[in-house]
Amino acid sequence: MRIAVVGTGYVGLVSGACFANVGHLVTCIDLDESRITDLSNGKVPFFEPGLDAMVAENLGSGRLSFAPDMAQSVANADVVLIAVGTPTRRGDGQAELTYVHAAAKAIAVHIRNFTVVITKSTVPVGTGDEVEQMMRRANPAADFVVVSNPEFLRQGNAIKDFAYPDRIIVGIDDAQAKPVIEQLYAPISEDGNRLVFTGRRSAELTKYAANAFLAMKVSFINEIADLCEKTGADVRDVSLGLGLDPRIGPKFLAPGPGFGGSCFPKDTLALAQTGREFGSPMRLVEATIAINEQRKHAMAQRIIDTCGGDVHGKKIAVLGLTFKPNTDDLRDASSIAIIEALQGVGASIAAYDPQGTRPAQAILHDVEFCADPYAAANNAECLVLVTEWDIFRSLDFNRIHASMTSPRVVDLRNIFDPSVLQSLGFRYRGLGLPEIKYQPGFEVTE
Ligand code: UDX
Repeated sequence: MRIAVVGTGYVGLVSGACFANVGHLVTCIDLDESRITDLSNGKVPFFEPGLDAMVAENLGSGRLSFAPDMAQSVANADVVLIAVGTPTRRGDGQAELTYVHAAAKAIAVHIRNFTVVITKSTVPVGTGDEVEQMMRRANPAADFVVVSNPEFLRQGNAIKDFAYPDRIIVGIDDAQAKPVIEQLYAPISEDGNRLVFTGRRSAELTKYAANAFLAMKVSFINEIADLCEKTGADVRDVSLGLGLDPRIGPKFLAPGPGFGGSCFPKDTLALAQTGREFGSPMRLVEATIAINEQRKHAMAQRIIDTCGGDVHGKKIAVLGLTFKPNTDDLRDASSIAIIEALQGVGASIAAYDPQGTRPAQAILHDVEFCADPYAAANNAECLVLVTEWDIFRSLDFNRIHASMTSPRVVDLRNIFDPSVLQSLGFRYRGLGLPEIKYQPGFEVTE
């Protein structure tokens, strides 16, 4: 099949490369000409494991190409994917649809034959109807249907998620689209058994409901972790026990410094706003957002408390800046709020991240970006683990202990073994752990 993908951001580029990889002929379009030049030379503008190689291979085979202009590829396409950004709109938190609308109108003008237009971008319920009307107005003669096919890829795991999806949700209000979608996904859908056809509005809402539910699990376990600390329970045991119930499931029950990234923060805000617009309040989602906001500040306060209540003039080492491992994305990363809060009370920050340093330099100010975790820890009063990159699991803590002015570790992902660190002489603080049990030599700070 011939596919045109409008937008070469994360979703557009990953989808385009993956569809080419399973045999379709894909052209990815972006107005940013320098991005198109880079991509045509195999230069991927962000870090996603395996994507560079996949883009290079499919460029080489001729199945994948890039263009700054959509006219030709849309005219020739069987399927057009809209994969442009839907950032948070200022003021009300709803998703900003300017780019989706602009793309839809431009596509309509260039359509020649029957075309299935798929909205991959995360858009509020009802957007498919809007897009369809706009396209009909822009080109009344065009023969097309608009389908909602939301993306469930996780950053850092996107290529695997594309090849082995749990489900492929397709919202269609016009049966003409069904055989086209079946053909599009035939190489990966195992005789269609992962394809779930729904109405268009249901598909749009499913995406938000899925992300909000996962975000809610994270906020829930973060509050349970706090309660564990107050009551002497251990969140690791509680998560395990909870997750063994198949109705709950073991995933997204790891406490942390709050969820971040390009989806959960934006999509929870947008869903809450949709609830307000339709007079159907999303109270659990509102609480999820509030808990997450508060979480970042509580984490900064936890670091300050661990340092004896004052970090003024002290050096704090931060390991991990991205919102999760295996990405270079810092969008809405908790590290930003935590670092800025610590700087606000006079701490100096040294940080290390395996992939996030360059984007972090554009966001964070007055941070010493280090070449490795040991340089960050050198002369620090406290080492804070924010993002659980694998390389942090095998740190030489003897070396770190010798180089710190005060051997304290605040582990915001519970990846270190408290008893090992404590036996090395660290003051260790994790999340949701019973301090008394693990730290008999230290007074409880709260
Ligand atoms: C998410 C959805 O998982 C994906 O299906 C959707 O398409 C896009 O949004 P992503 O943003 O890549 O994917 O990250 P995800 O792995 O879901 O993590 C989101 C945030 O939650 C991260 O900040 C992560 O650290 C945090 N998290 C996740 C926790 O704090 N605890 C957990 O147990 C799980």
